[in-house]
Amino acid sequence: MTTRILQISDTHLSPVHTHFQSNYERLLEWMAESPPDLVIVTGDLSLDGADQDADLRFAAEQLARLPAPWRAIPGNHDVGDYPVLGGHQPTDATRMARWRDVLGADHFMEDVPGWRLIGLNTQTLGSGLPEEAAQDAALHGAVAGAGGRALALFLHKPLCQHRLDDTVVDYWPVLQPARDALVAAFGATPPRFVASGHIHQWRDHAPDGLRQIWAPPVSFIVGEDRQPSIGSKLIGVVEHLLHEDGTHDSRLLLPERLALNDLSRLPQLYARPAAAA
Ligand SMILES: [Fe+2]
Ligand SMILES: [Fe+2]
Repeated sequence: MTTRILQISDTHLSPVHTHFQSNYERLLEWMAESPPDLVIVTGDLSLDGADQDADLRFAAEQLARLPAPWRAIPGNHDVGDYPVLGGHQPTDATRMARWRDVLGADHFMEDVPGWRLIGLNTQTLGSGLPEEAAQDAALHGAVAGAGGRALALFLHKPLCQHRLDDTVVDYWPVLQPARDALVAAFGATPPRFVASGHIHQWRDHAPDGLRQIWAPPVSFIVGEDRQPSIGSKLIGVVEHLLHEDGTHDSRLLLPERLALNDLSRLPQLYARPAAAA
């Protein structure tokens, strides 16, 4: 048996700033033609749910329209970001409470034949918030109880930009020491792949032997003047075919008629477009 999962990411939806709604509508139409077994949404559901209750609620309403069961984890635009980065929306108790109120749990575990899927909230890592400790306990329990199933990990921020031992502190990846702790939690059974969003670029690579798949956004790319290409700037989704024997086929899909929105041409949406992904 094979489980077909569609990973969508970075929809950046809002009831007020509707620039990306048409791509979402087209995605729903496309998905309805051949619904997957499960949709996994890897964060930045909302344009500004970190501050706007209406944005997060609207994004949740939009996910409810998906033609398949779905699971979602938050991104920085939903619950805030690492305080060390100095932004104006640190992940905190208020923002986590808003997420919990609107969307429920911030992490998930889901079993399908031959596989255990683990979705984590990258935004609380290193925060000391109670949600971080609860997630850590859930992760260790999920790995310990996998019972030989293949593991797949879903995140908003990628584990690293280049290599797992990167030390640069910037906006893009999970930062140290949380990255090392996350990898260590898997012990002798590393995930078969790590699937993430946030960068708004498609990339499929295996630094240090760990396959990392960056989902492209559904909403917008960021122009070269504000974000250099490291992968491919395009609009699309990722299909993960998970076979019961623990093998998988993951590939980029490009539904037709999704507009290649460029945030650089919409500077009014985020005050600091360089940190808008
Ligand atoms: Fe993000
Ligand atoms: Fe994003």
